[in-house]
Amino acid sequence: MSEVNFYERMGGAATFAEIAKRFYLGVANEPLLTAMYPARDMAGAEERLKLFLEQYWGGPSTYSDQRGHPRLRMRHNGFHIDTPAHDAWLKCMHAAIIDLEIDEEMKEELWKYFQYAAHSMKNQPDA
Ligand code: HEM
Repeated sequence: MSEVNFYERMGGAATFAEIAKRFYLGVANEPLLTAMYPARDMAGAEERLKLFLEQYWGGPSTYSDQRGHPRLRMRHNGFHIDTPAHDAWLKCMHAAIIDLEIDEEMKEELWKYFQYAAHSMKNQPDA
């Protein structure tokens, strides 16, 4: 399945906006994460995640037009991402995608990607 197809078959921009919205609703209720995210710019953070995901899955490249190369691991260097932070992030993302009305196969692919990406974002050794 090509990534462009994935973006379109997912329902395009509306679906990624929904994921980012639901994800940040979860973050707001997760103390471990609220401490890390920029309280004054949650709308901005939601927009950055939405644009990144659109681009990653084959949609418009607005993210890079505005922010440059994603370099996500580097952009996360300033945050302390240990196993509890990783688990909290994934829990919020799972809640964000679980009820999406999209093909189960695509949902599974999305979930596998988030698990892989979250793992690669860890920058603290396991205790
Ligand atoms: C593993 C746990 C993770 C934690 C604790 C975490 C935490 C954070 C925090 C605190 C920010 C700053 C919010 C902002 O101002 O935008 C951020 C930004 C961001 N995160 Fe994560 N993140 C994690 C994993 C991921 C993963 C797996 C992805 C992608 C699939 C991701 C994508 C992004 C993006 C696109 C931004 C905005 C980057 C920018 O343009 O500045 N994050 N993350």
